[in-house]
Amino acid sequence: MDGPGGARISGKHHDRVLFMACNRATTTPPTISANGNSYPPDSWTNVPPSILSYLPRKLHLQPSHPVSITREVIESCFPPPTYTHYNDLDPIVSVYENFDSLNFPPDHPGRNRTDTYYLNKDTVLRTHSSAHEAEIFRHNKSAGYTISADVYRRDAIDRSHYPVFHQMEGARMWDRRKVEGGDVARVAREQLTQLEEHDLEVEDPNPTIHPERNPLQAEHHRVEEVEAIAAHLKRSLELMVNELFSRAKRRATGDAAADEPLKVRWVEAYFPFTSPSWELEVFWQGDWLEILGCGITKQDILINANVPNQLGWAFGVGLERLAMILFSIPDIRLFWSKDPRFLGQFSTADDIKPFVPFSKHPACYKDVSFWLRSSSSAAGGGLRSNSQDFHENDMMEIVRDVGGDLVEDVKMIDEFAHPVSGRKSICYRINYRSLERTLKNEEADRLHEGVRTRLVEKLGVELR
Ligand code: PHE
Repeated sequence: MDGPGGARISGKHHDRVLFMACNRATTTPPTISANGNSYPPDSWTNVPPSILSYLPRKLHLQPSHPVSITREVIESCFPPPTYTHYNDLDPIVSVYENFDSLNFPPDHPGRNRTDTYYLNKDTVLRTHSSAHEAEIFRHNKSAGYTISADVYRRDAIDRSHYPVFHQMEGARMWDRRKVEGGDVARVAREQLTQLEEHDLEVEDPNPTIHPERNPLQAEHHRVEEVEAIAAHLKRSLELMVNELFSRAKRRATGDAAADEPLKVRWVEAYFPFTSPSWELEVFWQGDWLEILGCGITKQDILINANVPNQLGWAFGVGLERLAMILFSIPDIRLFWSKDPRFLGQFSTADDIKPFVPFSKHPACYKDVSFWLRSSSSAAGGGLRSNSQDFHENDMMEIVRDVGGDLVEDVKMIDEFAHPVSGRKSICYRINYRSLERTLKNEEADRLHEGVRTRLVEKLGVELR
């Protein structure tokens, strides 16, 4: 995960993207069936059966699973009746719900087929829990809600990225028609005083509103309203982080670091569906770690959802990243393990203990080097000639499809352009390692051969 939604949602550059690209045609099945519905495939279809097989898993609802325990701790910070908890919304959503309803511009990189799993041109596996915002605002059952959800993104392969992960979303609204004198600012301030105090050390150097970097939605909101709602948002999320991290720290007592106050900082951010927006980072084991995105909900989303008199905040947080910290889980693949040596180590939110790894099995590194296909526009085009053709995520998808959870990570170790033709060569190192057993070299060889064959078949590269 890159944060809750990371570079993908905010529109920042993705450092792993090599080239802007389109997908190559894949063999398209006659129809795609998922969750009891069928979807006619088309030229957008890129979701493999291996990914659809994750839909029934719902780790966020599996009792005693670390992802589910993390959800429970967060839910406990947003209790009913103010907050309704939605935990079983369908991961198959329309492109409209996932992107358009949230103001993603038509050319937003998150919409690319290299980044998102499409069932067909109108239907995707949700890439974030925000896909349900509009629907729940429209439903208007309570002032607030949380959603927990499995979300799907085409991405790199390493110990903290997996094509399926879990997010939690929360929101809180105030209705101008329902508060005395329409004074949402006063009511939100009053409710802020009812929230607990905490002893986190908080850095928050920026103004709530900045005309260029973090603007007020001036046609809809008053400064005092946004100041009050933002203060309520920040305190609510600080309390949540405090709850989670103090559970992780409690068990580390004795350790000098455990006695130091936990440090967090607010950073200005951008999301198409909030303004102003922030990210919250936590100082953990020597690094600043981004754990959530949030902001003041864009008023046009509420207007379109037929609740024009409401305004409020929303946030989204990645559950695996938090669970990895809470339980000291070193590899994101472990969450999918059905091995009792993993699952047997977790019980309830009141008993959070670090995971004890079972023995580390040996790594098996294999390299693959290839020339990218030259595209038809190659003539005189130098390096740019390949730029339409190859996207790293397409290569990752092949490795994942062949190797599944037996691949720990994939790293690019070399890249160069032929001095005369401009044709580009890349070398990747794949680390085959099982979390559960020792992998035989012959097995890794077989997988690697499968990867090589498919790279040629699907991406048209020339092996070196
Ligand atoms: N959906 C955003 C993400 O995936 C997180 C977010 C949710 C940000 C709600 C603001 C408000 O990164």
